[in-house]
Amino acid sequence: MNKKIRVSASILSADFSNLHDEIKSVEEAGVDELHLDVMDGHFVPNITFGPFIIEAIKKITDLPLVAHLMITEPDRYIEEFINAGCSAIGFHLESKGDPICVINKLRENKVKSGIVINPDSSIEGVKPYLDKVDFVLVMTVYPGFAAQKFIPDVLPKIREIRNLAPLLDISVDGGINNETVDSVIEAGANIVVSASYIFSSKNRKYAIQRLRGKAD
Ligand code: DX5
Ligand code: ZN
Repeated sequence: MNKKIRVSASILSADFSNLHDEIKSVEEAGVDELHLDVMDGHFVPNITFGPFIIEAIKKITDLPLVAHLMITEPDRYIEEFINAGCSAIGFHLESKGDPICVINKLRENKVKSGIVINPDSSIEGVKPYLDKVDFVLVMTVYPGFAAQKFIPDVLPKIREIRNLAPLLDISVDGGINNETVDSVIEAGANIVVSASYIFSSKNRKYAIQRLRGKAD
């Protein structure tokens, strides 16, 4: 099975004083979707933005908006993110509450659902959800900040999930760049998220092509 590689730009490394142009820039450079890192200062030691900003972003782009919720209680806020216009929402297995409630709410609203797992979470916890979600997002750094170093120990876990779910979308997030992308794709990921590599690149089009495996 060879799924088409999708590239997701995380705006965490964008210049927020110029967010409109930054989004247009990656849109023109060919990204497939925007990855929106929502942090509550509790689940992770950083605070970013919430549904209000996502709603504003929705007005300026037709790219699919994929929220990555790094929040303690996804169930409590999920409707706000649905209403903000997300086309897909990933929430952490390590957060509070019953994942099935969140998955059901997303399905009722025709929003794609994803389970996100931290680098040190075992595959056992995610297994019961593999046939219930649209994607699994495997963290390749500990969540909280952009521009951290890729953790290669996670590669066998990606491989194992791919073996268990040959058709599932598997996304990877954290430290993905020209030096690490080939290993995650080889392990079975088909959606690659990147913040610092894309936004710090002088040639964003080239960077995106490289992540897609279409450049040297
Ligand atoms: C980390 C976020 C990532 C981050 C990726 O907590 O979930 O999406 O923005 O940043 P890079 O690509 O710079 O590692
Ligand atoms: Zn993320």
